[in-house]
Amino acid sequence: MKLDSTITAVVTGGASGLGEATARLLATHGVKVALFDVNVERGEAIAAELGGVFCKVDVTSNADVEAAFAKARAALGQERILVNCAGIGGGAAKTAARDRKTGEIREYPLENFERIIQVNLIGTFRCITKSAAGMLSLPPLADGERGAIVNTASVAAEDGQIGQAAYTASKAGVVGMNLVVARDLSSEGIRCNTILPGIFDTPLLARAPENVRASLALQVPFPSRLGQSDEFAQLALTMITCTYFNGEDVRLDGAIRMAPR
Ligand SMILES: NC(=O)c1ccc[n+]([C@@H]2O[C@H](COP(=O)([O-])OP(=O)(O)OC[C@H]3O[C@@H](n4cnc5c(N)ncnc54)[C@H](O)[C@@H]3O)[C@@H](O)[C@H]2O)c1
Repeated sequence: MKLDSTITAVVTGGASGLGEATARLLATHGVKVALFDVNVERGEAIAAELGGVFCKVDVTSNADVEAAFAKARAALGQERILVNCAGIGGGAAKTAARDRKTGEIREYPLENFERIIQVNLIGTFRCITKSAAGMLSLPPLADGERGAIVNTASVAAEDGQIGQAAYTASKAGVVGMNLVVARDLSSEGIRCNTILPGIFDTPLLARAPENVRASLALQVPFPSRLGQSDEFAQLALTMITCTYFNGEDVRLDGAIRMAPR
């Protein structure tokens, strides 16, 4: 897809980190951007800076997502690009555990599992189906292309760590549906690809103490540092602009393979 000011993109989680960097990069190519996020303050500030639109959205809410697509399309036109970055980390808990001191046996808190699946997996699919339905109304571009979707999973989809059952399941779900979505939408000229980031230096990780961040960086074979959000945005841009890129899930991780803990 050739990028210019006739193209609109919706970026979920666009108020921070990987989504923000992708929205900024798309805007530098002239694309009109709509940011979907729960973070009103940052979302509005970034949208104003980029000349785009902010929509307050919790991706677990059908009503929120519907209202946001309606608002974004009224302001900027039907989007041809959807980038799904809205997501939350997993409150770590083992599948079942014994308290070392008291011997008390605990099950996994299911409400935690459900919340993470709702945001990371169902929230992503909710935005995909609603965006794809809108893209179907558009005339095809050159090559018969109508639209492009980029999702964000995680290397945790493949190397889930101790205590990360919910997060890993949510991200493995995104990877699992990627090819199906690409196949489902192929006859309409809509592509779907998914990025599996390793460890990226975003506000999500900024909360970790410096020694933890340094030790994480050392685990990355090369380059031995945390990933930068604009490196994620670069891959997202390639997935969007290279029309032959379809149905792929790609690790972006400096060759890290996460250890059990
Ligand atoms: N940073 C990393 O190392 C890393 C690694 C692998 C995967 N990821 C994934 O990348 C994505 C982006 O993460 P990030 O590091 O940029 O984090 P981030 O916290 O900087 O950004 C995530 C954004 O999503 C928004 N959000 C959270 N829940 C939402 C909801 N229910 N509805 C709408 N918006 C919501 C937040 O407000 C925030 O602006 C996430 O899906 C995360 O799981 C990040």
